[in-house]
Amino acid sequence: MRILITGGAGFVGSHLALSFKRDLPNCTVTTLDNLKRRGSELALGRLALGGVEFRHGDIRNPDDLAAAGSLDLLIECSAEPSVQAGLSGGDRYLIDTNLIGTINCLDHARRHGASLIFLSTSRVYPIAALRELPLVATGARFVIPEEITGPGWSARGITENFPLTGSRSLYGATKLCSELIIAEYVAHYELQAVVNRCGVVSGPWQMGKVDQGFVVFWAARHLFGGPLSYNGFGGAGLQVRDALHIEDLYRLVREQVAQMPAQSGKTYNVGGGAECSVSLAELTEACVERTGRRLAITSQPQTNPVDVPYYVTDNSAVTAATGWRPRLSMSDILDDIFQWLFDNRGEVETILK
Ligand SMILES: NC(=O)c1ccc[n+]([C@@H]2O[C@H](COP(=O)([O-])OP(=O)(O)OC[C@H]3O[C@@H](n4cnc5c(N)ncnc54)[C@H](O)[C@@H]3O)[C@@H](O)[C@H]2O)c1
Repeated sequence: MRILITGGAGFVGSHLALSFKRDLPNCTVTTLDNLKRRGSELALGRLALGGVEFRHGDIRNPDDLAAAGSLDLLIECSAEPSVQAGLSGGDRYLIDTNLIGTINCLDHARRHGASLIFLSTSRVYPIAALRELPLVATGARFVIPEEITGPGWSARGITENFPLTGSRSLYGATKLCSELIIAEYVAHYELQAVVNRCGVVSGPWQMGKVDQGFVVFWAARHLFGGPLSYNGFGGAGLQVRDALHIEDLYRLVREQVAQMPAQSGKTYNVGGGAECSVSLAELTEACVERTGRRLAITSQPQTNPVDVPYYVTDNSAVTAATGWRPRLSMSDILDDIFQWLFDNRGEVETILK
C-alpha cells in the first residue's frame, strides 16, 4: 500500500505516518507539508528516522500533489486548523488550503483510484446552537443534566444529528464545504472516503497554542511558565471539551482503512467522549498536581465570538459501525504529554512559549 499523508509534518499527520510505517513496514508512507505551522519542522527528523518520506509541498498547488506520485490511500491532515483564523477578515489562506486544497487532494486521490480519510472537525456544528445547550455549572465544570436531551445532544455528548443551521466560523465552514464536496465525489466519481468530525485531539508533539491544542498549551504553560487566562463564559474556566489521544485516533483510522469500502460514504463524530472530558478549571488542577506549580490565572469574562462553552463527542455511531472506542483516559493523555515535555524540553520550549 502506498499512503500519502498531506499535512504529514503536523501533529496528527506525523503521528499517523509514523504509526502506519511502524505497524505496516511494507507500506510506502509519504508526507507532504508546506511547514506553515510553527514546530512542524521538528517532525522532519522523526519522520526520516521512522522511514517516512517527506516532501516539501503545498496542497494549494496541484503540481505538488502530482509530484508525490501514485497512491492507494490519501489521509488529508493539512489545514489551517485554528477556529480563530479569518476572524479579522480576508483570510484567503484558510479557504485556499482548507477548501480548495482539499479539492485538489480529492482530485489527486480520484485520479489514482485511491481512497481517502478526511479529518474534519466538531466545528462544523453551529456556534449559536451549541451555546443554547441547557448547561448547568456543577463543581468546576458545565454539564448537560442527565435527564434532558434534544436533537442530536444528551449528557453523552453531541451526535451527527445535531442541527447544522447557523454560523460556525470560517474554519468550520471550510470543513463542512469540504465534507459536502467529498459526498459528491463519493456519489458520482466512485471515490471511497470516510469523514471523521474530530473533537479535540491531543498528545505528544502537538504544538499547542491558545487557539488550537489547548491541553498541550495548558500543560506547557504550567511547566515552562507564561500567562494563562480563563476566557469567556463567566471567566471561571468551567468550559468543557472531550479529548482524544492521538494513538486512539490512529487505531480508528487503521480500522476504517481495513473496513473500506464498507465504511465509504460515512461521516462520524469522533472524540474522547464524556469519560474523557475536562474543564479548564479541572485541567488546571491536573497540571498543578503533575508540576507542583500553581500559576496566577487571570479571568477574561468577555466571550470570543467563535468560542463555545461545551463540546463533548457522542461516539455511539462510530462505535456501533466499527467496534472502535477510545481506550486512553484524560490522565493517560496528560501523563504522555508531560513525559514528552520533560524529555524534549530543549527542542520544544521556545515554540510552546
Ligand atoms: N488537533 C485537533 O485537535 C483537531 C481537531 C479537529 C480536527 N482537526 C483536523 O485535523 C487535521 C490535522 O490537524 P493538526 O492538529 O495535526 O494540525 P497541525 O497544524 O499540527 O497540522 C497541519 C499541518 O498542515 C500543514 N499545512 C498547512 N497548510 C498547508 C498547505 N497549504 N499545504 C500543505 N501543508 C499545509 C501545516 O504546516 C501543518 O504541519 C486538520 O485538518 C485539522 O483541522 C484537528
